[in-house]
Amino acid sequence: MPTLLKLFALALCTLGTLAQAAQPIVIAHRGASGYLPEHTLVAKAMAHAQGADYIEQDIVMSKDNALIVLHDLTLDATTDVAERYPGRQREDGKHYAIDFTLAEIRQLKVTEIQTDKDGNRQAKYPGRFPSGQSSFRINTLEEELELIGGLNKSTGRQVGIYPEIKVPAFHRREGKDISAAVLQVLKRYGYHSRDDKVFLQCFDPLELKRIKTKLLPQYQMDLKLVQLIAMTEWHETLHSNAMGLKPEPYNYDWMLAPGAAPKIKDYADGIGPWFPMLMTETDGQWRVNHMVKEAHAAGLQVHPYTFRADQGQVPEVFSSFEEYVGFFLQQAGVDGVFTDFPDRAVKVRNSLRAK
Ligand code: G3P
Ligand code: CA
Repeated sequence: MPTLLKLFALALCTLGTLAQAAQPIVIAHRGASGYLPEHTLVAKAMAHAQGADYIEQDIVMSKDNALIVLHDLTLDATTDVAERYPGRQREDGKHYAIDFTLAEIRQLKVTEIQTDKDGNRQAKYPGRFPSGQSSFRINTLEEELELIGGLNKSTGRQVGIYPEIKVPAFHRREGKDISAAVLQVLKRYGYHSRDDKVFLQCFDPLELKRIKTKLLPQYQMDLKLVQLIAMTEWHETLHSNAMGLKPEPYNYDWMLAPGAAPKIKDYADGIGPWFPMLMTETDGQWRVNHMVKEAHAAGLQVHPYTFRADQGQVPEVFSSFEEYVGFFLQQAGVDGVFTDFPDRAVKVRNSLRAK
């Protein structure tokens, strides 16, 4: 390589190092959920063994205030609740975890995630663990923290946790303060300072501000907070309006626009965008947009979701899952990735580091 080119390459490497000081992290999304039913303890143990740096917990509350590790507010997609508890659904036909006690939830069989197609229940990801096989249960947050803490001790690997408070406004409407409950459990299990290996995530910016300014000081805690970013049309966060009428979808558009990062930095330490939000199409070409650069300039980490290797889940512009993850780690310069396949993302991250 000519000397001038070598110097240019060196300068690029140095710039890359400055922008991304720490090694990017691999977050096991719902555990090693590409291989075992999501949020089961075996999926979490597998993620730990596969070298994930952090393991994610989505958290909702039961009728009797237990914190359970479950992605949806409802039990339908991953359990046999409809057969086990007929007639317990709400008007929308769904069975809400908050309408069941922990003892009832423990009776449910967990399976690989199901979806409804033309009135039939079928596996959302057909290549994954066979539906209805083996025996899996829903666990509490405490049980999962004990598992990860136990594995950290027995293996000597310090794997962090990445809990998500699910839909706090829904829980409030049901008379429950899920954020306060989660913080108290985290504190009891030794996660209370910024130095602890925990990122606390939520889609609801008003709740994150409340956690930052009210709850963390109240419990004498100081955790790193991550603002998850949704597309407004997903209706991920519904807030009651000023008149106290029907809840309205929170508008996330400002978080995607230039200039958002310093405003988010006022109450959070990182952002969790959907990965396509970091790209913009111009003249038929997809390019990395302003978001990572602005986030880093404001001191925010960037952990996009969710990198999946299943058939049809890798964007067509990439030839493999490895190229896809590698692009976001290297070209886009993100600080971590949420993935259902932590083993494969760890390999990509390590090979980039070796280079
Ligand atoms: O929390 C990061 C990612 O998990 C957000 O999406 O819907 O899988 O919780 P979701
Ligand atoms: Ca999540």
